[in-house]
Amino acid sequence: MSDVSAYLAANTARYVSELIELLRIPSVSADSRFRPDMQRAAEWVRNQMAAAGLAAEIIPTPGHPVVYGEWTQAPGAPTVMVYGHYDVQPPDPLDLWTTPPFEPTIRDGHVYARGASDDKGQVFTHVKAVEAWMKTAGKLPVNVKFIIEGEEEVGSKNLEDFLERNRERLKCDLAVVSDTSQYAPGIPAITYGLRGILSAEIFLTGPNRDLHSGVFGGSVANPANALAKLIASLHDESGRIQIPGFYDDVVPLTDSERRQFAALPFQESEYLSKLGVAAPWGEAGFSTLERRWARPTCDINGMISGYTGEGPKTIVPSKASAKITCRLVPNQSPDKLTAALEAFLRSQLRPGIEMRFAPHHGAVPLVFPPEGPFMKAARAAIAKGFGAEPVMIREGGSIPVVATFKSVLGVDTLLLGWGQDTDNLHSPNERFSIADFHKGIASSAALWGELATK
Ligand code: BES
Ligand code: MN
Ligand code: MN
Repeated sequence: MSDVSAYLAANTARYVSELIELLRIPSVSADSRFRPDMQRAAEWVRNQMAAAGLAAEIIPTPGHPVVYGEWTQAPGAPTVMVYGHYDVQPPDPLDLWTTPPFEPTIRDGHVYARGASDDKGQVFTHVKAVEAWMKTAGKLPVNVKFIIEGEEEVGSKNLEDFLERNRERLKCDLAVVSDTSQYAPGIPAITYGLRGILSAEIFLTGPNRDLHSGVFGGSVANPANALAKLIASLHDESGRIQIPGFYDDVVPLTDSERRQFAALPFQESEYLSKLGVAAPWGEAGFSTLERRWARPTCDINGMISGYTGEGPKTIVPSKASAKITCRLVPNQSPDKLTAALEAFLRSQLRPGIEMRFAPHHGAVPLVFPPEGPFMKAARAAIAKGFGAEPVMIREGGSIPVVATFKSVLGVDTLLLGWGQDTDNLHSPNERFSIADFHKGIASSAALWGELATK
């Protein structure tokens, strides 16, 4: 291990310049104009894996390709599935970036670029940890199988099929994913729960064209007004979601978990001022951490209707649409609640308004037992890599494949995030701390050693 540490220390500058190469590739999975860049990013990742000593290949899917790599010459030792994604969210709005999203720039100890933290910088730590072991010891203390996919940010639609078809080849004892955050600067964390998600889009149509609102207004339903009514019906004034049956399957927080959340250092005023918000708002009876990690939500992500250019225009618009997501907690079902959402909205449609309901992606919520031998190994590895004991947290984001690892491969996942909630994921000026990048590599290298004895 001391050889590995020396190798890591000697190579820090190269690790950063390699990461910058990857961050230059605009691998935006949602937008078909970036298809060639998706392929380029996959090839880059495959070449890096091969250089690190893995048998690596690109596996096509009906969507963007999966990069797969493995090294399985440690008989008797556990087999670890490492998962991450090389695709990124669209960079818009571009004018809010201090430096362009695909021209990585180092400022105040961070690399700024789309994908820096989510997830290129994080996933790369595991590739570099493999490289360090292979170049020093000539072997790894555990068996590893890497799946780096290109469709996480669009719901991992093709990955379940990939896992099912390759069930034998992908056999493993646990999965490791670095695609979450630390609790705070200086407080690394292990995440033992993620929220799930359901995602849908609704399209309302009224009159067959935009109408003069003086000549026709008041005689036919206005789709923008109708959309506003539907959206407003989702919550009551105390923040409770009104979809019938929505809370039926929610596993309530236990008193001990509420105490653990409350024991974490948390300054509400600081949290709000970082977000530029004067007061919190959410479901009555729950703390901010409980609302973020362990309670379901329903959010409008975008809505479109009518005239949005400069100055007034007096019309009844013909159409209105909205993108809706609900974050889910154990044991809520994305499929069941997608149907409940559609039925609830349909039951309230005004005469003369037609609705098309288009479900997008879903992810199952989950919580893992926060103890066990693999958790213990992860704690020890993070303590070594970061020089601080990790705290146990849940998080509000979703990683669809984690539930699939459980249902198809039968394994739990260690969610070991090296990011921070100030990394601007999915926002302008995404960034990743360079110090945490190196600590992540050190933790990953330590993890292979710790897991070998489990
Ligand atoms: N890495 C995030 C998820 C995340 C971020 C979890 C921070 C915990 C803390 C992931 O890339 C992501 O954005 N997932 C999407 C999933 C969706 C597109 C199905 C999400 O949560 O919106
Ligand atoms: Mn991610
Ligand atoms: Mn993301």
